[in-house]
Amino acid sequence: MKAAKMIRYDWTNLRADVVGSGQGLTPADLDAHRPAARAAVERIGARVDRGELGFPGLPFDKAALAEVERYARAQRGRYHWVLVLGIGGSALGAFALDAAANGPRPFRKKKVPAELVVLDNVDPLILGRALDQLDPRRTLVLVITKSGSTAETMSQFLIVYDWLRKKVGAKKAARQVAAVTDPKKGDLLEIARSEGFALFAVPPNVGGRFSVLTPVGLLPAALVGVNIRQLMAGAGSVVEDCRKPELESNLALASALHQFLLDTRYGKNIQAVYCYSNALYPLAFWYRQLWTESLGKQRDRKQREVFCGQTCVAALGVTDQHSQSQLYMEGPRNKVITFWEVERNPYAIRIPRLFPKRDSTGYLGGRTLNELFRAEKFATELAFTEAGRPNCSLVFPLADEHAIGQMMMLAEFQTAYAGEFYDINAFDQPGVELGKQLTYALLGRAGFDAERARIAAYRKQKAALLKR
Ligand code: PA5
Repeated sequence: MKAAKMIRYDWTNLRADVVGSGQGLTPADLDAHRPAARAAVERIGARVDRGELGFPGLPFDKAALAEVERYARAQRGRYHWVLVLGIGGSALGAFALDAAANGPRPFRKKKVPAELVVLDNVDPLILGRALDQLDPRRTLVLVITKSGSTAETMSQFLIVYDWLRKKVGAKKAARQVAAVTDPKKGDLLEIARSEGFALFAVPPNVGGRFSVLTPVGLLPAALVGVNIRQLMAGAGSVVEDCRKPELESNLALASALHQFLLDTRYGKNIQAVYCYSNALYPLAFWYRQLWTESLGKQRDRKQREVFCGQTCVAALGVTDQHSQSQLYMEGPRNKVITFWEVERNPYAIRIPRLFPKRDSTGYLGGRTLNELFRAEKFATELAFTEAGRPNCSLVFPLADEHAIGQMMMLAEFQTAYAGEFYDINAFDQPGVELGKQLTYALLGRAGFDAERARIAAYRKQKAALLKR
């Protein structure tokens, strides 16, 4: 069997001797941080070995994979729609996997076993349209929430389950729902048990945004025809390297350190992922959540105020060359660009030699769209480099399951290591909690009286200011 090709990382253009002093990394920067890098690998490794961090072990859990495959096989041909109700880490992975394997939207592979719909918002317009247009008899509902209580997901679930019961009857409706949640606690777990839904577990030692390789991402992916075996093989193939202590042999560690240093020493507090692939573009949004929710923290581990984290934005190449590139070239010097490019495209499209005498068409005729696409990425890279804008490239051999599996595991390790460099907890999200609690208070959930008092005080103060 041919060995699968691996993702490559080219960081030449992050170097100060390439992009200019003060704009990029020096050998001294890296040497000074080798002990910290080794310590990061040791600390994360120890947590993995103690079973506190579960994400690196997921590709080797054959039983979990087989359980999802069995369920997906049994559902094949029964449904036209797979409707995911979830948000954040419980939604973005499924969308990214479907786009990479079956997409990009709106054009899809000709034969997908079912179409994925991810409802990761509570905008009434989108849910209303979905319920108007989905055929309830041909819709399999996946309600995905690790905590089993997230307001957005639970409200969607109540609406969709009620709709389903009214349309197909209570007995059938229960068979058309699968729940993915914590195996030990939470309201969804109890509801799923009492209603008799198919039930899948998110391992307790795998946090929301690190959970794509659990049934959170695997179940929807398998139902819409993603080859989850290849995905897991890709993810598993990088784990050993991700645990090596040397920067030279550990892409995740090196890239975490690069971003950390560029942010904290050189003011590059924005990482723009410039994705030259429509199929991989949704993966950039999955990555954006992983990176920003993990690293954006007010306090470090010693409870000192640090207000750290690097903003991640997603851009699509070449489309955003006509939208974002101007800012990246000439705007504030606060960005590092991470290009994502794909080596091999399944389509080779020749540009016809029409209108050969015209300036704007003559030189294009006879070339391929693939050449143009590659040339535009190269030209953008060169232009950024000449302008002293640090940039690096992640080169995917192909936009397929194996490569996306590699990328997901690399990104999770990279994020974990970056958390160590910033000396923060990359696995919590205290900043999201307050917004959630205030929403509960506004909607009258019991036990949130203090938040209700805060809301009343805020409203009073705002009304007084508006009167002035
Ligand atoms: O990374 C996280 O923990 C969050 O983004 C969660 O995935 C998100 O808030 C959804 O949580 P839950 O799966 O509990 O509904």
